Amino acid sequence: INPKLKLVEEINRLKKEKNAVILSHYYVEGDLQDIADYVGDSLQLAQEAAKTEADMIVFVGVHFMAETAKIINPTKKVILPDLKAGCSLAESAPIEKFKEFKAQYPDHKVISYINCTADLKTVTDVVCTSSNAVKIVESFPKDQKLIFAPDKNLGNYLNSLTGRDMVLWDGACMVHEQFAVEKIIDLMDEHKDAEFIAHPECEKPVLLLAKHIGSTSSLLKYVQDSPSKKFIVATESGILHQMNKACPDKIFIPAPSNDSTCACADCSYMKLNSLQKLYVCMKHEQPEIQLPDEVIAEAQKPIKRMLEISK
Ligand code: 13P
Ligand code: SF4
Repeated sequence: INPKLKLVEEINRLKKEKNAVILSHYYVEGDLQDIADYVGDSLQLAQEAAKTEADMIVFVGVHFMAETAKIINPTKKVILPDLKAGCSLAESAPIEKFKEFKAQYPDHKVISYINCTADLKTVTDVVCTSSNAVKIVESFPKDQKLIFAPDKNLGNYLNSLTGRDMVLWDGACMVHEQFAVEKIIDLMDEHKDAEFIAHPECEKPVLLLAKHIGSTSSLLKYVQDSPSKKFIVATESGILHQMNKACPDKIFIPAPSNDSTCACADCSYMKLNSLQKLYVCMKHEQPEIQLPDEVIAEAQKPIKRMLEISK
């Protein structure tokens, strides 16, 4: 038997034995998306984690996603294949620095992108993801002053869509800020029949070129609904796995990146996950997400508000 199939078999056996659910983000490798009980964007995965009846949540994504699952469903054991799977956005906003920043704006409420630490969520009024961000911003009265953290690109995009003037924390996704505008323009020129679509974590010059801007699930839906046959996609390349599966007759071209280590955009944190690590983590039930009760209690409030508003 093919060793990879054997691993898949073992993971499925452990899943049954331990009554576990596997949640995978669209950015992990295709085989890790295929083995999941649920694959989705950040909001969909948080919603699944909140309602699961499994005893153990296995989060195949990055640390802040597993942490969010623990916060909204704290009686479950939450494990992830590699504890080092971080996120440049989450790391960009250390809590002490953020508290100093927040103190400069005492009459502002805080909206935090879900890509942040549990500590940051404890000083947040409402969490959002790229799927529900406009709705979350608009849930505040027009005259409410707002801070948006940690993604300045998404924050800028939201300011332009909603006409707000949110104060932005200076953070960015190291993958989405690497897209090469000139190379994208050349590629669009080469493939005049292709539609260019982008994730709102991209910088403004990239977003200005896009026919459609949205979260991973929104991009996936767009390519399915559009009559076009060819797309240039500016987000982490893992999403192409689902796009190819959903539309085998269409062509998907990953947008070029300036990252010298990889021609397209790969998140090195997401790519720390592997079938082997997934198997080992399920076998030993670690590494496990553990958080102090006070952090869970405080961080839960803005996530619950988000889930309520997103219903
Ligand atoms: P979404 O899947 O919610 O669009 O998030 C993208 C992302 O960068 C996750 O790290
Ligand atoms: Fe973080 Fe960007 Fe990787 Fe998403 S793609 S986990 S935002 S570094």
